Amino acid sequence: MVVHLEKVVPVGRTLDEYIKMFNLTEDDCKKFILSVADGPASFNAEGTKLGYKIKSVDPLYVFNSEQIKTRFYEVIDNIIKQVENTSHDWVWSYHKSPQNLRKNREKVISLFGEDYEQGKREHRYEIGDLPKLKYKDNEYELGLISHFLFLYSEHFNQQFHLDSINEMLRVCQEVRIFPLLTLNNEISPYLSFIIERLNNKGYRCNIEEVSYQLQPKGNQMLKIMK
Ligand SMILES: C[S@@+](CC[C@H](N)C(=O)[O-])C[C@H]1O[C@@H](n2cnc3c(N)ncnc32)[C@H](O)[C@@H]1O
Repeated sequence: MVVHLEKVVPVGRTLDEYIKMFNLTEDDCKKFILSVADGPASFNAEGTKLGYKIKSVDPLYVFNSEQIKTRFYEVIDNIIKQVENTSHDWVWSYHKSPQNLRKNREKVISLFGEDYEQGKREHRYEIGDLPKLKYKDNEYELGLISHFLFLYSEHFNQQFHLDSINEMLRVCQEVRIFPLLTLNNEISPYLSFIIERLNNKGYRCNIEEVSYQLQPKGNQMLKIMK
């Protein structure tokens, strides 16, 4: 996959957001975690400091820390301006305000940047893209994917979603996906088809409520167990 930096929006989330988005318990955090489409989140940076074993995968990791940070500062003003102009369309229970959201995202890119080059040397950040992953069957206990599948349903079709989720289930014993909404704040049109196909293959699918929310009604996470 060729990634064009000028088309990338490298905005990421914190460990606390990941814990809430995925209902992660203390036991979950002790698992071998594969976090796909992890982008410039600080989940890996913060989690590693606490002794968690997290591998992050993203096509973005072809770029170096300076390139990702520069791109972040090129796009963040415009993103926050758009959020401010539509602030009634978002839920502020977690972030409180657009300015707080900005502060949080700046904190994330800074924590990510401090950890990234060292993390790359330690193979905690690896270049990769769905629908194929280079890892072995069941190599990871828990697979997470935040703000990619379902969210970009207009850009990636149903088959891509199905192939990507099957691939994550090949590599991970359990997979969690958040959110279930598209960019238009509607439940992804692929969700029920995918759950039906996974149920037919013998996987157990639960939709769980979570305490994290920014999109209206965007407080649900799909947990898929073997
Ligand atoms: C909105 S960001 C989410 C980052 C992070 N998961 C978070 O929630 O903070 C979406 C990420 O998906 C990555 N991405 C794009 N195409 C991908 C693919 N085919 N496979 C895996 N990741 C992809 C992008 O590079 C980007 O970092």
